[in-house]
Amino acid sequence: MDMKALILSGGRGTRLRPLTYTGAKQLVPVVNKPILWYGIEQIVAAGISDIGIVISPETGDDIRSMTGDGSQFGAKITYIPQDSPDGLAHAVKIAKPFLQNSPFLMYLGDNLIRDNLVNFVEKFTQQSLDALILLKQVPNPTAFGVAVLNQQGNVIRLVEKPKDPPSDFALVGVYLFSAVVHDIIETLQPSARGELEITDAIQSLVDADKNVMAQPLQGWWLDTGKKDDLLAANQIILDETLSSKIEGQVDDATKISGRVAIGHGSTVINSTIRGPVAIGQNCHIENCFIGSYSSIADGVKLTDIELDHSVVLENATIQDLHQRITDSLIGRKAQLVQCLDRPKALRFMIGDDSHIELT
Ligand code: G1P
Repeated sequence: MDMKALILSGGRGTRLRPLTYTGAKQLVPVVNKPILWYGIEQIVAAGISDIGIVISPETGDDIRSMTGDGSQFGAKITYIPQDSPDGLAHAVKIAKPFLQNSPFLMYLGDNLIRDNLVNFVEKFTQQSLDALILLKQVPNPTAFGVAVLNQQGNVIRLVEKPKDPPSDFALVGVYLFSAVVHDIIETLQPSARGELEITDAIQSLVDADKNVMAQPLQGWWLDTGKKDDLLAANQIILDETLSSKIEGQVDDATKISGRVAIGHGSTVINSTIRGPVAIGQNCHIENCFIGSYSSIADGVKLTDIELDHSVVLENATIQDLHQRITDSLIGRKAQLVQCLDRPKALRFMIGDDSHIELT
């Protein structure tokens, strides 16, 4: 039976507030492309084209309208609404009518990984496994699901967000399952945090002597749920994938060095841009210094500012700041404007859960 994929793209994104009050965390861009799309592209590259995406009532419509029916990725996408965030195993449960009895790859929509998924899918298929999990050693295992392996490398125990971690091998948000997992999920009880945990489902597969294996991840893995993880993802993807492409207008006074992409309809005047930097379409940049590892989304206006190692989302305006903006994530349509040379007061209208540091 052909393999399917299930991408989980619900959840409330509490760790990326305030951006996630108005949009899905999986649609926050990394190098001007929604995080979710990297996962879709990797799944398609691994030969899987029948993809279900689990969405929440809050952000499902945005995900659906941006991502479409899958044709832009060479895939067929089916959207599966999940009314409340009751856990990863609950998402599999409600996706049963889509998954039927196919083996499937499950992908958490806010995860980014370097390794391609082909070897992972091949290992699962060739060894007729019931579950294959990906593991990565992490310095903070209490934040993840954690696996304990025996000397042969078989999975013997899994714990979700352990207070006292039995190992530092975290479960990466990519899993492969055979249809056996559905029967196991029917037997699960909600965990202490009130969710049906996929970690408990895998433990039950181990307890039932099913064929569960783990594979270490070679390359990097980023769980983009927080600002600094998102900036790290932006840096790595710019480093590894950006190529120079100037489609907009750049005047003679502007100095560009390193790899820089500038989209159609954008204008850059009297500025210095030191790559890697990605600038989207229809931006206006004047008298600015834009330093390495910055991604500027479509429609952004930057005037008389210095900025580096930052992500600026669509249609934001930043003007006349005399301090450099660094390590920052600026939301859609945000306006950051300095009116006087030496301001005597700061005047704010800042969204709930915003984070501002004047350092
Ligand atoms: C989930 C899983 C956890 C896994 C993590 C990977 O955690 O429950 O086992 O290690 O994804 O990103 P959550 O992001 O729901 O806290």
